[in-house]
Amino acid sequence: MDEPNGSIRLGSENFDLPVILGTEGERALDTRTLRAKSGFITYDEGYGNTGSCQSSITFINGEEGILRHRGYSIEDLAAGSSFVETAYLVIYGELPGKERLHGFTEAIRSKAAVHASMNHHFEGFPIGAHPMAVLSSMLNSLGAYYPQMTTNNREQDLAHLDETAALLISKVRTIAAMTYRMQKGLPFVFPLEKEYTEEFLHMMFSKPHIEYVDECGAAKALDLFLMLHADHEQNCSTSTVRMVASGGANLFASVSAGVSALWGPSHGGANMAVIQMLEEIHASGDDGTRFIEAAKNREARLMGFGHRVYKNYDPRARILGKSAESVLDRIGIDDPLLDIAKRLERAALEDEFFISRNLYPNVDFYSGIILKAIGIPVEMFTVMFAIGRMPGWIANWKEIAENTKSRIHRPRQIYTGHTLRDYVPVEKR
Ligand code: ACO
Repeated sequence: MDEPNGSIRLGSENFDLPVILGTEGERALDTRTLRAKSGFITYDEGYGNTGSCQSSITFINGEEGILRHRGYSIEDLAAGSSFVETAYLVIYGELPGKERLHGFTEAIRSKAAVHASMNHHFEGFPIGAHPMAVLSSMLNSLGAYYPQMTTNNREQDLAHLDETAALLISKVRTIAAMTYRMQKGLPFVFPLEKEYTEEFLHMMFSKPHIEYVDECGAAKALDLFLMLHADHEQNCSTSTVRMVASGGANLFASVSAGVSALWGPSHGGANMAVIQMLEEIHASGDDGTRFIEAAKNREARLMGFGHRVYKNYDPRARILGKSAESVLDRIGIDDPLLDIAKRLERAALEDEFFISRNLYPNVDFYSGIILKAIGIPVEMFTVMFAIGRMPGWIANWKEIAENTKSRIHRPRQIYTGHTLRDYVPVEKR
């Protein structure tokens, strides 16, 4: 959908550039030919105003707080869909009919077990290794067991995509559970071909002789958490997946890079940071007031608040905020951290500092409270995010791989280092 009606003035010269229109009315000036025509590149450190691709997976309107996957609102999906169905939608573009959903569910269900020799990889990690380091390494290692899916030949890797997608969505959960058990010194538990989140909870918490029983709807709460993380357009980790994919790398290598990108506290690591922040506030006896002041004085960051794209309430935070209350009610936990979170939210939403900067709760603000309530340890929180984001990474890899015109991603830079200087041998330095 191109409209050749853009132009840019540099000095005394005008350069005509096409405008690209999205289906929701977003507009971009297509600067791909600007350097060739003018010698200028565009500069946008942090890519706050740069479209890196055209994509039909997810639409976000940050000003209005809208999130849709393939045209379906996140609120409708949260009310009626499941993680596995949403994963199918995100990857394949349409809601599956009964048969397709059954086939996809079965493919995921049947692929939960990992090759027995992968246990040796786990033994190689020290106790205390960060679960995100383990997950990233293990996803890449997993690819080594499937040479037919890791050819780095687009056509061949795409020919196996259905199998690879189901396998990754399934096994990421097994690797996560195995990581947790390794850290605890517990024996691994074999999957039993249960529903997606039930299987995960079983692999996490069953004992060799006693099967985990979900008495409080933990599987349902986890399903909602995962679904709300399924995709979020060109965030840091998804852009990383696309970047790696653009060089022709296979899906395992690309999602492994995505996990590394997700790890940071400004991105997926924020869900851990939120709970740590709430615990510190609680331990210090603060009701949140002192912390808000510290955030305003830039001595602290209110984790779980603010977003590069949302300048309004993150719709996922709204859904998770409500869910956190009902999960805690069902489990019968009275978590003081939820009260602190609610107080922080109220205080921030009424404070000029946060209002003027459009800082609202993001997806991570309440998600940790839910994960904590269902027994997931804090150090596994970002891994839970990665399990949820797997469909989005797969869908974005697929979009790159299927686009025969896609080029390797290779941004330019403005060089600010030394100009040419003479080499000085070491004895003269
Ligand atoms: N607490 C206090 N002040 C904040 C916060 C916050 N959480 N977030 C932004 N600000 C302030 C900044 O200090 C800055 O103020 P200034 O203009 O007076 O200097 C202004 O708001 C803009 O902030 P930036 O950091 O420039 O915004 P950016 O878009 O680069 O960052 C980010 C977005 C990284 C999410 C940021 O809001 C943040 O660090 N939030 C806390 C971490 C977090 O929750 N991350 C999860 C994001 S969602 C996700 O990835 C799943």
